[in-house]
Parts: sequence; structure tokens; C-alpha cells
Amino acid sequence: MSEKRIIHIKFSEFRSLSELEKDDNELVSAAREASGKAYAPYSGFMVGAAIRLNSGKIIMGANVENAAFPSGICAERSAISNSVSNYPDDYPVAIAVAARTADGFTEDYVSPCGSCRQVIAEEETRTGREIRLILSGRDTAAVISGISSLLPLQFNKQHLRPGRP
Ligand code: THU
Repeated sequence: MSEKRIIHIKFSEFRSLSELEKDDNELVSAAREASGKAYAPYSGFMVGAAIRLNSGKIIMGANVENAAFPSGICAERSAISNSVSNYPDDYPVAIAVAARTADGFTEDYVSPCGSCRQVIAEEETRTGREIRLILSGRDTAAVISGISSLLPLQFNKQHLRPGRP
């Protein structure tokens, strides 16, 4: 017999960036700054991500596109590669994302793509800590306490190596 399961997700939505906590607001500013460094000649969609490490250090990343489209990388993965390879002993406590087009910052808050969700999930697994997500738009934001809300029933190392650490 089957059993119905319901997964609820909980997040906070803000109608103004000024309502964000100070640390979150600062991280959105860093993500906005990072979006200015994107290389997005094909989509014109410039994304920035900023990671706050536990030490307080802020690491930034932007999307880097390629004429061979699948070789491009998103801002979130760019920032995570940067932080893991340069600060492997530190760990992310939060990541903010912002995106802009020629018309300015997107009106709606941007949400990470499926591949980025998977990579953020792996980083939570690697560090054993949840990563706070701050998704921002022109004057809107969503704050989510960890990736499990955006990636329920995630595939992780437990599936590859059941019962092992
Ligand atoms: N992109 C990101 O960098 N992050 C997201 O969360 C969504 C999409 C990039 C990939 C591509 O360079 C461009 O935005 C358009 O999809």
C-alpha cells in the first residue's frame, strides 16, 4: 500500500531589501557587485553570488558563459569552486544571489538552477552545516535556511555509500 507524503517548504519573503538582516543585506550587495563581473555575452543575464564564510570572509563568483553553451558555469558554482579551492578549511554559512540584465537588477528574486542546488547540497554535506540562501531581486528577497527546502529528496553520498560516513 502506498503512503502519501507531503513536503512543506518554509522561507521568508521580503518586499524590500532594507528589511533584510544587516549581514544578509551586505551579502546581497556583494552578490550585486559580483554580477558586474559576469561574462554573459550570450544570454545577457549577469548573475553574481557571494558566499559568507564562517571566518567572515566574503567570496564572490559570477557566471562565465562559453560559445559551447554547456561549458558555461553559473555564478553560484563559480563562487563555491572559488571558496572550496581557496579556503578548504573554512565553511560557507550563507550565499546570496543577484542577477541583472541591460534593464537593471531583475524584478523577481533569482533562484539557483538544479545543478547549482545539487552543488550547494554537496557543500552542505562536505561541511556538515546548512547554508543560508538569500535570493534577491530589485527590491524583493527570499531567505531560506538550507538547501533541503529547494532540493527535497536529494541525491547524496548516502546513496553511493550507504551507512558510511
Ligand atoms: N545562471 C546563473 O549563473 N545562476 C542562476 O541561478 C541561474 C542562471 C546563469 C547561467 C547562464 O549563464 C545565464 O544565467 C542564463 O541562464
